Amino acid sequence: MTGKVPFDLKEYLNEKKGLVDKALDSYFPDPSGPASDVIKAMKYSLFAGGKRLRPILCMAGAEAVGGDGKFVLPVACAIELIHTYSLIHDDLPVMDDDDIRRGKPTNHKVFGEAIALLAGDGLLTEAFHLMTADELIALVSPHLILKVISLIAAAAGYGGMVGGQVVDIQWEGKAPDFPIVEYIHTHKTGAMINASVTSGAMLAAGDGPRLTAITSYGKKIGLAFQISDDILDIEGDSETMGKTAGADVEKGKMTYPAVIGLNKSKQIQSDLVEKAIDSLKIFDHGAEPLRQIARYIIKRKK
Ligand code: IPE
Ligand code: IPE
Ligand code: MG
Ligand code: MG
Ligand code: MG
Repeated sequence: MTGKVPFDLKEYLNEKKGLVDKALDSYFPDPSGPASDVIKAMKYSLFAGGKRLRPILCMAGAEAVGGDGKFVLPVACAIELIHTYSLIHDDLPVMDDDDIRRGKPTNHKVFGEAIALLAGDGLLTEAFHLMTADELIALVSPHLILKVISLIAAAAGYGGMVGGQVVDIQWEGKAPDFPIVEYIHTHKTGAMINASVTSGAMLAAGDGPRLTAITSYGKKIGLAFQISDDILDIEGDSETMGKTAGADVEKGKMTYPAVIGLNKSKQIQSDLVEKAIDSLKIFDHGAEPLRQIARYIIKRKK
């Protein structure tokens, strides 16, 4: 047989999501013991119905450089744990004060603020536990695992997601400022998205110009993803998104549409996607999932 089977993104996303969900399920025990409430709360948000975009990017990053997506699952899942923690805390009354997430009542609405806070803490720490799991150490050199853990810790911390969240909160209700909104978006969201695809490529021994290309792609889609989140907040439907639309204007959030308008925001996100795809030109068919995911990021409805 000659010719390649055309790539079907929907099928790819479904298949990878299935792998992530199964792996995540295997990492968590049934809630029991005196601290069972926190396990219940962690699992509640983890299995509430996320898209699993970051773990999928991690696997696709490994595949782009010729690796097998499955063996990066512990790291891919660890990233989803960190992401889920960030959502639980993002929704708390002291942060964005949101009631609906992933189509369900937010964690603190169900378990109370103290348990929600601790469920976030539990997910964050468990992520680092998972990245030192025996099944990963059996396959990847400890040196490489340490480099990946370092990358993910930096992306999640004050120089990445946490830093972006700080500025997001502190600039609520302030006058539009483009360098600030760019800082917020590249940090609160872009950093972890870039770390997702870059860590996958690193674990599959991607280095040199190939790793540089993946990181360039990751930075661009990371920013595009948050711009599209801002646009969905204006144009999207709460039911479809599984979270409340229109919340950004209500809170006076510093978003791309608030700073430069809807049309210019749409133009920038399209340009970023084109540039992200262009970053991948040194790759062959193996990077097709990454190319299609880039396009999906600004076409999605949720
Ligand atoms: C939501 O992320 C938070 C942002 C960074 C905008 P996702 O849109 O990936 O949410 P889930 O994981 O699918 O719920
Ligand atoms: C959150 O950004 C980014 C995180 C690090 C959690 P948003 O506050 O815009 O995310 P949503 O719209 O609540 O999902
Ligand atoms: Mg927020
Ligand atoms: Mg929010
Ligand atoms: Mg948002």
